[in-house]
Amino acid sequence: MKIILENIRELVQVEEQPVQFKAGKAMQKVATIKDAFLIISDEQIYKFGKMSGLKDTYVDDDLLIEIDCTNRLVYPSYCDSHTHLVFPGPREKEFVMRLKGKSYEEIAQNGGGILNSAKLMHKKTEDELYNDALLRITEIIKQGTGAVEIKSGYGLTTEDELKMLRWLKRIKQTVPICVRSTFLGAHAIPVEFKNDRSKYIDMVTNEMLPQVAAEELADFIDVFCDRGFFSVEETDKILLAGMKHGLRPKIHANELGFTGGVQVGVKYNALSVDHLEFMGEEEIKALQNTETMPTVLPGAAFFLGLELSPVRAMIDAGLPVALASDYNPGSSPSGNMNFIASLGCIRYKMTPEEVINATTLNTAYAMGISDRLGSIARGKTANIFITKEIPGIEYLPYRFGNELIETVIINGEIQTY
Ligand code: NIG
Ligand code: FE
Repeated sequence: MKIILENIRELVQVEEQPVQFKAGKAMQKVATIKDAFLIISDEQIYKFGKMSGLKDTYVDDDLLIEIDCTNRLVYPSYCDSHTHLVFPGPREKEFVMRLKGKSYEEIAQNGGGILNSAKLMHKKTEDELYNDALLRITEIIKQGTGAVEIKSGYGLTTEDELKMLRWLKRIKQTVPICVRSTFLGAHAIPVEFKNDRSKYIDMVTNEMLPQVAAEELADFIDVFCDRGFFSVEETDKILLAGMKHGLRPKIHANELGFTGGVQVGVKYNALSVDHLEFMGEEEIKALQNTETMPTVLPGAAFFLGLELSPVRAMIDAGLPVALASDYNPGSSPSGNMNFIASLGCIRYKMTPEEVINATTLNTAYAMGISDRLGSIARGKTANIFITKEIPGIEYLPYRFGNELIETVIINGEIQTY
């Protein structure tokens, strides 16, 4: 089956020679082709170029679907490299508590927050969880996401963490988009272990991890390394154990303080360190010339009213930056990557080109898939979206909160909802 997209106003984020990610000044550059065509063959991007060159391209007429993209832009799908979108229910009551003055940390310390979700998780059946997650995944596909990373971390007992990861595996096998899974047993210390933290950490490393690895339930290991959650020493121990089981780290760091999270992530060659509200010169230096992708989560900073990550200083220092949604019930109840792109521009003063790189190629790298997703390149998987009629690349982040995506194609198939 072939699909041909014709008369595209602008084909965005094309790569003749694909790179793994873009850093520093290179983030300013997004290659586009105006008045373009794109041919998809089976699941892959087969060919693209200027409309004027299309007549020289032989296209077999059999099984050909033509889509006229006049006045529309075509983008590679967003890759969302940090979410917790498999969760047992919303936490809007905590939202109201915060509006009345309680902080996220206070709510967490009083048994709310992640622990609240863990309580609810225990009561939910696998089918309920699975169906809820499918609804959320359908929602983000409509919003242009073509790959997503999803974490465990609302179980916090061996039984419930495995339950979460097993249906995450089921989700992986049934949804059309690419899903990567992360084991986050070290998301919070359960109340019953409050006075014996090391006992819980031993459970994560000696009981949960071997089973996660034996059943091949996760691609990565994560720890919430931050003030009031897990210390650097605890993180060190958990990451080492995860790596022994073949899981590369991808961690939560420096959201609530200068905790050393970035440094411990870099020490173990984490694929990404995420949040990064508290970044000084040392943290920036630690990330230079490494393979670790600094990932900012603008939805959480917006929703919780946090400090803003110094994205400009990071890019000026030559670092790459990725932007992900952090979709979760407590700190970012939205997986809308269009809105994340708008926040990147509006609050962090990133340019439209920088946010395109930060939400496609760099997030693809941060989930280990930039060889097959994250840009329009020959042979990459055909996960793309076609916009409504819009004038140019500035328009998507400018019209924050608006739905400007008209058609989504995943694995070379037009999606209907
Ligand atoms: O990334 N920071 C840690 N974990 C999530 C919040 C999870 C929750 O509150 O449910 C985050 O913000
Ligand atoms: Fe998170």
